[in-house]
Amino acid sequence: MTIPAARVDHLAETGRLMGRIGNCPNPEGVLQYQPKLRLDVLDRLRYSSVLSAAQFDKDLLIELLKLSAYLQLRKYPVRRALEDKIMAAAFFEPSTRTRLSFESAMLTVGGQTISVADAKTTGVAKGESLRDIGQMFNSYADVVVVRHTEQSAIAELTEYMRIPLINGGNGSDEHPTQALADWYALLKWRPEIAFGTIPDKFRLNLGIIGTPGNMRTVKSFLKLALLFPENINHITIFSEMADPLGEHLREICDNSPIGINFSRDLEGSLEYLDVIYMNAIAFLGDGYRFYAENFQLNAQSKMKHDTVILHPLARGAELSTDLDRTQHNLYFNQADGAVWVRQALLLAIFDRVRHTLPDDLLI
Ligand code: CP
Repeated sequence: MTIPAARVDHLAETGRLMGRIGNCPNPEGVLQYQPKLRLDVLDRLRYSSVLSAAQFDKDLLIELLKLSAYLQLRKYPVRRALEDKIMAAAFFEPSTRTRLSFESAMLTVGGQTISVADAKTTGVAKGESLRDIGQMFNSYADVVVVRHTEQSAIAELTEYMRIPLINGGNGSDEHPTQALADWYALLKWRPEIAFGTIPDKFRLNLGIIGTPGNMRTVKSFLKLALLFPENINHITIFSEMADPLGEHLREICDNSPIGINFSRDLEGSLEYLDVIYMNAIAFLGDGYRFYAENFQLNAQSKMKHDTVILHPLARGAELSTDLDRTQHNLYFNQADGAVWVRQALLLAIFDRVRHTLPDDLLI
């Protein structure tokens, strides 16, 4: 499906209203320190699959988010950048934001999309194997975004893929492009996290409400947080589980200079937290579990006046809607920015950055 240019303009003008409720930091903040884009770094994404947040080091994350900021500012025409490409959005598990924002991103740069919105409408209903479905992605698309209930699905598919595969969330494992969107929102809010040195007494304290070991969004977010040890003081994990990290993540955290704490006292910790990342839904083996009872936030919660909240959504009772119109709300901007981050990722994967942005911006 293609959308006419006039419609693209209309979407661009109106489609970001959600991101203008609450805290709406300016994308220009991400560009003020190092405006030029390093192609040698972005080239690492050329025709690459994106499977885990661990693929991103600080340089790659920064260059991709700078590209996202240029795209969000819409200073340069991108409407035909991927007009010869087809993206398959293959979602074997429900999604609102990931599938729609990838499709929106692809359409806005002139690409075409084909979609699976429900596994039951595919050969899965007849017992078709993931291997055979993967072969069809190779034939019908130039890139595929896959979401699946099974952690193993992405690894299984990569064995057969001849086109780049983007992990759109696999069971309890990872959601790397969500983490890119999370950090885009945070770097717009405080660019100095990546580009400056925050004085010791103002270094950030992050609170994570959830269990990184078995929540994919929280896990991918945490992996990227570890890239900024110079500006993050502590990360406190609020979870009802005995071992919220699990063995693999604990090993990664043990090797980081950032102090990681565990607590069940959210209320008593609120006055210290600068950023709160929350998610209450975990996929555990056979279905979703909700972890909200003891960790809820609303407009009366005793946060610092400038604390920001991130939430990948969908939300439950843990995040009151009375926070939506406050400056604590960075979660709508986080969802809004995902379109530009995913657009940046697609341009980098197809090596179209050098054809889209002017030469004097590129090094
Ligand atoms: N953040 C996120 O993954 O949302 P969806 O499940 O709606 O894609």
